[in-house]
Amino acid sequence: MTARALWTALEAIEATGGTGPDGWTADGVSIDSRSCAPGDLFIAILGPSRDAHDFVADALSRGAAAAVVSHRPSNVPADAPLLLVDDTLRALEALGRQRRARTTAKIVAVTGSAGKTSTKEALRCALAASGPTHASAASYNNHWGVPLSLARLPLDAAYGVFEIGMNHAGEIAALTRQVRPHLALVTTIAPAHLAEFADLAAIARAKAEIFEGLEPGGIALINLDAPHADLLAERARAAGAARVVGFGQDAAAEARLLKWVARDQGSRVTADVMGQAIAFGVGAPGVHWAMNALAVLATVHLLAADIAGAAATLPQVSALAGRGRRHDIDTGQGILTLIDESYNANPASVRAALAVLGDTSPASCGRRIAILGDMLELGAEGDALHAALAGPIAAAGVDLVFTCGEGMAHLAAALPPECHAHHGADAAALLRPVLETVRPGDVVMVKGSLGMAMAPMVGALEGLAVEPPVHCAGGGNAL
Ligand SMILES: Nc1ncnc2c1ncn2[C@@H]1O[C@H](COP(=O)(O)OP(=O)(O)OP(=O)(O)O)[C@@H](O)[C@H]1O
Ligand SMILES: [Mg+2]
Repeated sequence: MTARALWTALEAIEATGGTGPDGWTADGVSIDSRSCAPGDLFIAILGPSRDAHDFVADALSRGAAAAVVSHRPSNVPADAPLLLVDDTLRALEALGRQRRARTTAKIVAVTGSAGKTSTKEALRCALAASGPTHASAASYNNHWGVPLSLARLPLDAAYGVFEIGMNHAGEIAALTRQVRPHLALVTTIAPAHLAEFADLAAIARAKAEIFEGLEPGGIALINLDAPHADLLAERARAAGAARVVGFGQDAAAEARLLKWVARDQGSRVTADVMGQAIAFGVGAPGVHWAMNALAVLATVHLLAADIAGAAATLPQVSALAGRGRRHDIDTGQGILTLIDESYNANPASVRAALAVLGDTSPASCGRRIAILGDMLELGAEGDALHAALAGPIAAAGVDLVFTCGEGMAHLAAALPPECHAHHGADAAALLRPVLETVRPGDVVMVKGSLGMAMAPMVGALEGLAVEPPVHCAGGGNAL
């Protein structure tokens, strides 16, 4: 027996109210012709800079089963399998809504100022121990990423995990109403995208919108250690959450971290999860990762899934590329350890990364070195938030700091001169001084907002290797 198709033409026609030929089935859904796989349903979304109708012919030539369009592009033959709709984004949402309406899966929605993707990926593995699990790809958490992830939900899924993000108030409310979670999780609250918000409380209110989509009887899971946890709990109750559960180190947390011990590439955790004592290893370093793992186990417990099976997957999680992945670079004269945090930065994730740097011991002659680019989009408080990193840098025992960008200039001014190595206008300006300074035995952490383009710095440090770099995975069951 062949597996059931993800979408039949009739289902898609009915869901979208569009018109087009019957007779095709699709095994996937794609909005990017470059990654469109044979058998995908291609949806031609109008993006901010490009109209995907220009790529319908390309998608079909790559084997797309059909394409959802608002008009037939002139380079597409008249007999092509097109599903004609008024608005392709609305059609994508309609597909997502139909899939959500038909699924019997337990649905989890994840938001927060940091750790959404990390937690979502850990949940994907943890819930898979209990049944077929579908999760959003990458950070597909916006107005197209969420409906796309819903439209991809297989009918046989037992669990669905959806990341929800935002840049503005109101975005999460619209997205969570599409997802309709049974459990909504807020990983943490921190000043990210602060330029768009009056203060941190406004960010917490925007994250709390996630509870507005909760199903009847739904559960809110919140980080009690995060700022404005009270506000989150209050908003969850006001939105009708049947239960509000806290996780964290806070004494009131029902999922409580009791003990955390750093291991070389991860940690060992003891926790109380709703009255159940549990000890587990986490394959990615940092107390923030232990918190993500605790949220995962609390979710698994609250969904009545297999908590022991879930805990057994946590030693295998590893920090993702650009989000804490560690590389041991063999320079020929010794090992240089690189912590790649180049993907993005906000005050919470920089502090988490600095703590990991502090937990990582350099070789006897080595030093802890931080290479930091600006945390963007912080608005009026940005300068102070950059300067305030001086405290966590001292606490982590960082020996040398390289800074770049206008915000980090304020950190440079706040650091003791012996600790500040060099400031550059941008990451490129730091390349030479960094390469002249680092030596085997050092532990080097690179972090900055995506717009600061810190990734080439990581590439340059990897280039010091005589052998291809070793990407250190999780510590396995030894943790
Ligand atoms: N609970 C946490 N608290 C603080 N920082 C975290 C936490 N979990 C992960 N991080 C760090 O935050 C950064 C981003 O992680 P991740 O990609 O999981 O976040 P995200 O919320 O999905 O981000 P985005 O908004 O870009 O999608 C990484 O550097 C990671 O190490
Ligand atoms: Mg993400």
